[in-house]
Amino acid sequence: IFETLVKGLQRLEYRGYDSAGKALNGINNNNIVLIKKNGKVKALDEELYKKDCMDLEMELDTHFGMAHTRWATHGEPSALNSHPHRSDKNNEFVVIHNGIITNYKELKKYLNSKGYEFESETDTEVIPKLIKYVYDNREREDLSFSTLVERVIQQLVRSPLLIGVRSKYELSAEHIPIQYNTGELCSPLSDIITLHTHTTRRISSTTNLQSRDKAVEYYFASDASAIIEHTNKVIYLEDDDIAAVVGGKLSLHRLNRLAGEVPVRAIQTLQMELQEIMKGNFEAFMQKEIFEQPESVFNTMRGRICFDTNKVILGGLKDHLKEIKRCRRLIMIGCGTSFHAAVATRQALEELTELPVMVELASDFLDRNTPVFRDDVCFYISQSGETADTLMALRYCKDRGALTVGVTNTVGSSISRDTDCGVHINAGPEIGVASTKAYTSQFVALIMFGLMMSEDRISLQTRRLEIINGLRILPELIKKVLTLDKNIKSIADELYEQRSLLVMGRGFNYATCLEGALKIKEIPYMHSEGILAGELKHGPLALIDKHMPVIMIIMRDACYTKCQNALQQVTARSGRPIILCCQDDPEVSKNAYKTIELPQTVDCLQGILSVIPLQLLSFHLAVLRGYDVDCPRSLAKSVTVE
Ligand code: F6R
Repeated sequence: IFETLVKGLQRLEYRGYDSAGKALNGINNNNIVLIKKNGKVKALDEELYKKDCMDLEMELDTHFGMAHTRWATHGEPSALNSHPHRSDKNNEFVVIHNGIITNYKELKKYLNSKGYEFESETDTEVIPKLIKYVYDNREREDLSFSTLVERVIQQLVRSPLLIGVRSKYELSAEHIPIQYNTGELCSPLSDIITLHTHTTRRISSTTNLQSRDKAVEYYFASDASAIIEHTNKVIYLEDDDIAAVVGGKLSLHRLNRLAGEVPVRAIQTLQMELQEIMKGNFEAFMQKEIFEQPESVFNTMRGRICFDTNKVILGGLKDHLKEIKRCRRLIMIGCGTSFHAAVATRQALEELTELPVMVELASDFLDRNTPVFRDDVCFYISQSGETADTLMALRYCKDRGALTVGVTNTVGSSISRDTDCGVHINAGPEIGVASTKAYTSQFVALIMFGLMMSEDRISLQTRRLEIINGLRILPELIKKVLTLDKNIKSIADELYEQRSLLVMGRGFNYATCLEGALKIKEIPYMHSEGILAGELKHGPLALIDKHMPVIMIIMRDACYTKCQNALQQVTARSGRPIILCCQDDPEVSKNAYKTIELPQTVDCLQGILSVIPLQLLSFHLAVLRGYDVDCPRSLAKSVTVE
C-alpha cells in the first residue's frame, strides 16, 4: 500500500507539491496512523522508508491507506497543515479534501465554542472535527458513517472532493472511504474492483481499501493518472453523488436522495496509456510535451478534416451549428494559456465566421458582470476543464441563457459535462504544469471551428482551402521547428542570467508574445512581458537600451512592414533584438542581433510555429537557472480555487 500510494501521489504531484501526507491502518489494528511531511512527495517517501515506517506497515498489516499532496490555500505549506486532517488525537475520523470550504470560519468558531481545538490553519480541518461533533451528538446509535458524512457535507459551502475514513467502526473491516461530489468509479478488472474518484484536479488524493478475504481493491483518486497502472475502467460520478465502501462492498447514492433513488453510472474505459503519463527519455514532462506537438496537433485534426473534400466536421458541434450561425456574437473565455489560444485565433475566427468575437479572461469577465444575452454563444477554453474561474463564468452565462461550448482536453471534466456542446482537443494528458501541447491543440481546434462555420460561404472558399492545406502540413512544419532546439539552447545560454526579457510582435503573432512571456515567467521565474509592437511608442520603448534582452517576432504577413518599423525603433535605441522570422529574410536578418528562422505557413497558423521556440527557450532557461521544470513554485496544474 505504501508503494501504491507513493506512486499514485508522484503521478499527481504536478497538481500541487507544497506538502504531502498519508493515513494508514491495519486489518487487525483499528488505529489509523498519520504520516505528514513538508515539501515534495519524495520527502514523504523517504520518511516512509525509514525503518520505523517499514516496521509500521508490518505491524499494521495494512489494508487501507489514503494520501494527498497539498497546494496551500489556507495556511502555509507545512507538515501540520498537510492532509490528512483528523477529528481528535485518537484519529477517529480522518479526512483529505480538495477545494475550499468558504464557510470554514463560521464552522471553526462554532466548533471552538464547543471545546474543539484545532491543530492546523487549514479550512479542511473543520470537516473531521464536525464529523466527530455530529457523531458525538447523534440521537440514534446506528448512525452509519455514510449518513454521518452526508450530514456534515450539508453544512459545508463548496466542497468539491472529500475522502474520509472512520476507525474502530462497529465491525473491524468497516473502514469507509467516502467521496463527495463528482468522481470516477472503476469497474472489475479480473478479480479487482477499483474505485477511482475524479474532479478536482489541482490537489490530488488517493485512497485504497483492500479486503483480503475477497481479494477486492478499491481506489479513489482525483485523476486517472494515479490509478491507470491498476485499471482503465472508471465511472464518473456526478455532482452530489456519494460513494461508500462498507465491509468491502461499494455503494453509490445521491446527497438528499429521494427514497429508493439509486444513481445509475456507466462504466467507461479510459483511453489513457501508462506511457502517456511517463517521462520516457525526456528530462521533464514539459520537454516531452513540447516534442509531442507534431502528434498532438495531428490527433486534434484526426478524423475531423477531410483533405479531399475540404470538409471539417467537429462531431460535438454539428447539431448546434445552425444555432451558432444565428448568434449575436461569440465570446471566448479562458484563463492563462487557454485565454491566449483565444487571442491567437480571434482574427481568423472573425474572418471565417463573420461574427464579432470577444476574448475574455474568465476572472475579469465575472468581475465586470459582463452583459450576456440568450443569443450569445460562449466558448470555455480549458485544458483541464476544471479551472474554477472558467467554470464560474460558464455557470454565469448558462444562467443568462447563452449557448455554451466547451473546448477542453479532459473527457468527463466539469466543463465538458456542464456545457451544451463542445470539442475535445485530443492532445493527450498534459502533465507539465506549463501548458504547451494543449495550447497548440486548442489553437487548431478553434481554427477548425472557424472552417466548419465557413463551409457554405462562397467568398471564403479560397481562404478556407489555404488554411486547410496549411493544417495538412502543420505536423511536418512543427517537426522542422523542433530541430532548432540546439540553436535555442545556445540562446538560452546567453540569456539565462538576465533579469528581464521582452517579447514583441503584432497581428497574428501577438498571442505568441503573451504566451511566450507567460512561459518565461512561470518556469525560469524571469520577468517577461509580451508587448504588442503597435504599442511600443506608447510606453514600452522607454525600456529599450543595449542591456534589455528583446525577442521580436517578424513574419511575412500583413503586419510585416509595421513590424519592421518597430525593429527600426528598437535598433535606433541600441537594442539587440533576437528575431523570430521566416527563413531567408535578409531584410530582417541584417538588423537582428540573432535570428531564429522558422518555416513559413499561412498567416493565421504561423502562431503555432512561432510559439514553439519560446516554449523551448523557457524550458532551457529554467534548466540553466537550476529550477524544477515540472514543479514551478507556487503553481499547480489545475486551479480549482478562485
Ligand atoms: C500556463 C498555464 C495556465 C493555464 C490556466 C488555465 O502554462 O498552464 O495559465 O493555462 O491555469 O488552465 P486550464 O486550461 O486548465 O483551464
